[in-house]
Amino acid sequence: MLQNRYIALGITGSIAAYKAADLASKLTQAGARVDVLMTEAATHFITPLTLRSLTGRQVFIDMFDPTTELAEQHVEIARRADAVIVAPASATTIARLAQGLADDVVSLTVLATEAPVLVAPAMDHQMYENAATQANLETLRQRGYTIVGPAEGRLASGRMGLGRLEETEVLIGAVKQALGRRGDLAGRRVVVSAGGTQEAIDPVRFVGNHSSGKMGYALAEAARDRGAEVTLVTAPTALACPYGVRLVSVQSAREMRDAVVAACQDADALIMAAAVADFQPGEAAEQKIRKAGKKGLTLELVPTPDILSEVRGDLVRVGFKAESRELLESARELLRRKQLDLVVANDVTAAGSGFATDTNQVTIIDASGQEEALPLLPKYDVANRVLDRVAALLRERGEAP
Ligand code: PMT
Repeated sequence: MLQNRYIALGITGSIAAYKAADLASKLTQAGARVDVLMTEAATHFITPLTLRSLTGRQVFIDMFDPTTELAEQHVEIARRADAVIVAPASATTIARLAQGLADDVVSLTVLATEAPVLVAPAMDHQMYENAATQANLETLRQRGYTIVGPAEGRLASGRMGLGRLEETEVLIGAVKQALGRRGDLAGRRVVVSAGGTQEAIDPVRFVGNHSSGKMGYALAEAARDRGAEVTLVTAPTALACPYGVRLVSVQSAREMRDAVVAACQDADALIMAAAVADFQPGEAAEQKIRKAGKKGLTLELVPTPDILSEVRGDLVRVGFKAESRELLESARELLRRKQLDLVVANDVTAAGSGFATDTNQVTIIDASGQEEALPLLPKYDVANRVLDRVAALLRERGEAP
């Protein structure tokens, strides 16, 4: 989604300026055209040459540079930007933006743009918590700017506190969300489930499966990038919550059922990518089961609640089906039995497909029985193909509020 998009990256005077190099590099690698704007103070922390080398583009510092390739550089960069992000934003620049000043290339571009503006503060925690900085940030928020972070942790001063520049992945997530604000899922509420549920045997053991959560997280991220308000109900995974997504962490199928049913009260779509246990131990032992003196152990399992069947109403419901054999038959059967709008049949035997991979190979089957077999694709792309169908179904059912 960043391919060929113009991102204006304003870098200001903070020690975290060195991290802006990583942001510029990752945005460029994702296909964006990054126009770097630096305040004079920023050039004391990182060289323009670094940014120029990473982006392959001219870096703008001097408002009055007569040699620039742009006739009216301030208006031109502001106009062509699809999003403007100031990262790191120093206390001085935040004050400048709040005042509406335009006395350097960063503040001038922010003032001149009609694109979404993101501000990622980075400074010592005392400066961040100062009433003046807080009031300035509040002014920017009310003006519609997105304030990203800061994160908490070790600061350059050696102290701990709020003031670290957010991680690059978080900043990129925020840019993508801003770019997708007017996407085809804008105004829609989408609930996604992810990961493999864990059904307790005793306090230290559980019945589980191999789901990593990657497919569900990719769906959540892609739905966010198309403007949706996303709730991600997730069983335990090693993944970070995508920026801008509401995360509800659960462990068992029962907990997932409660969270999904609650989130679906006012949702437009539910996409169940989670691998939910079909059975759970009847009752988890209160204490750890000991091996000593036992020749074996028999677990009695009882069915878990069927989450997809418990969610009814006007929303679009999408199920996933992972099988090692008779995949399409089982997927069709699931579609009929649970009266779904779509089912995504997931071949878990194909190389690079299924559990814990970054790619997936699926066939999408709709309620009329039409089947679309997709090639092996990154999970984010699979997510978008599923969301194309969800967005089309929602359009058929009426306009977003
Ligand atoms: O997380 P990854 O490592 O990226 O792996 C992704 C995946 C392989 C887990 C995912 O792509 C996938 O295929 N998920 C569905 C797994 C599956 O086959 O579930 P199932 O056959 O048990 O259930 C069918 C559907 O009913 C699923 O949408 C499931 O979420 C839902 N279900 C299942 C049981 C239950 N008690 N309630 C449910 O709602």
